[in-house]
Amino acid sequence: MKVLVIGGGGREHAICWKLAQSPELTELYCAPGNPGIAEFADLVPLAADEIHQLADFASEIGIDLTVVGPELPLALGIVDEFKRRRLPIFGPTRKAAEIESSKVFSKQFMQEHGIPTARFTVAHDRAEAERAAAEYGFPVVLKADGLAAGKGVMIPIGERELHEALDLFFDERRFGASADRVVVEEYLEGQEVSFIVLSDGRHALPFAACRDYKRLGEMDDGPNTGGMGAHSPSGVLEKETAATILEEVIKPTIDGMAAEGRELRGVLYAGLILTEDGPKVLEYNARLGDPEAQALMLRLEDDLLPILASGAAGNFHLSRMQFKKEASACVVLASRGYPVKPVKGEAIEGLEAAAEVAGVTIFHAGTAAVDGEIVSAGGRVLNVCATGHTLREALRRAYGASQLIDWPSKILRRDIGRAVLDPSSGSGIWRVPADLRG
Ligand code: AMP
Ligand code: GLY
Repeated sequence: MKVLVIGGGGREHAICWKLAQSPELTELYCAPGNPGIAEFADLVPLAADEIHQLADFASEIGIDLTVVGPELPLALGIVDEFKRRRLPIFGPTRKAAEIESSKVFSKQFMQEHGIPTARFTVAHDRAEAERAAAEYGFPVVLKADGLAAGKGVMIPIGERELHEALDLFFDERRFGASADRVVVEEYLEGQEVSFIVLSDGRHALPFAACRDYKRLGEMDDGPNTGGMGAHSPSGVLEKETAATILEEVIKPTIDGMAAEGRELRGVLYAGLILTEDGPKVLEYNARLGDPEAQALMLRLEDDLLPILASGAAGNFHLSRMQFKKEASACVVLASRGYPVKPVKGEAIEGLEAAAEVAGVTIFHAGTAAVDGEIVSAGGRVLNVCATGHTLREALRRAYGASQLIDWPSKILRRDIGRAVLDPSSGSGIWRVPADLRG
């Protein structure tokens, strides 16, 4: 099969890495890709949001399956365009992707279908938002309706922060039309978990449990980012809770979307809080998480290609996915200034030595090849991933390899996995063992 993967981050590198192992693959293309992906796919110089040109390319080459990584092309209707031209693609239509691209839609959907979530109000202006915030009390959660690259959620802890947040949404219009409507919701307390499945529109194939670390700083301090690390298993999700989430959240979501004529073919990613009253949904994504995908691809036993191809056709060829017993971990190496204005263009050293550490796989994210050298070219630059017999071993390997890679503005969180491995350690960071320090 000829396959086209859309996107160019670490998630797409991991997807390409996995697809490249399939005996059914004949040609692999990636648009726009990155230098890591170029090792086993032909890069296509088209951006992920150039949906008409991507469809032209797929039909010229005779692509048998297109796989979409990021959310933007989905929200722009890439799947609708491909379907119109009868080009096979794995992902949700624009209407189905609204489960991610409109928080107002997803909250109303959950309410209508009895899916547990936080109480909420949709505010159209400042006064409405203030009234709703007063009803729920502090901390309160404010969410821009539309896509905001992970930055549209604010959690004011008092009046002053509330007014600052409302200034950004309604007066400064920092998020433009994405914040024409703002969801105001009650703050939920509990452990946060991700639950990710593939859907063919009717059935769910759950991934192994995983956990990501969204904040920039150690001890979950600092701004939200796309994600600074991940590991699988999650260390927090019990089997019984996973079964509850599948029955009470995932299945009703897939069925409810189908009933509304928004069949969900693609990825369904539920972000949840395990509250005292059971799991409640924070948000949905209609795509794989990044860096969750990197940790999951390392553990997936099955051939990914026939799974995605049968899902795109609306009928999975198997009833569950198998995962290796090994644990996996992913440490994100980013550049100083991320997530606001990362330093770019610095030469990266040590990639080859790091790739030789036992169990380690390196996925590229924001890198570029310049005169035969790999340089930093984005906020999140590299994903140093590893497998191991235990989570501790996977993390030790990933951190060991991370120490061998260097560029002047490299930053990383040193505590990925620490909350799970050592829950009692309220302070201090999870340190790289002395024998693995670079
Ligand atoms: P979202 O994009 O909706 O996942 O929100 C981003 C982050 O804000 C989540 O990963 C949570 O850590 C936090 N968050 C969102 N909604 C709530 C809520 N109702 N209660 C507590 N934390 C929340
Ligand atoms: N790592 C979180 C996300 O991809 O949404």
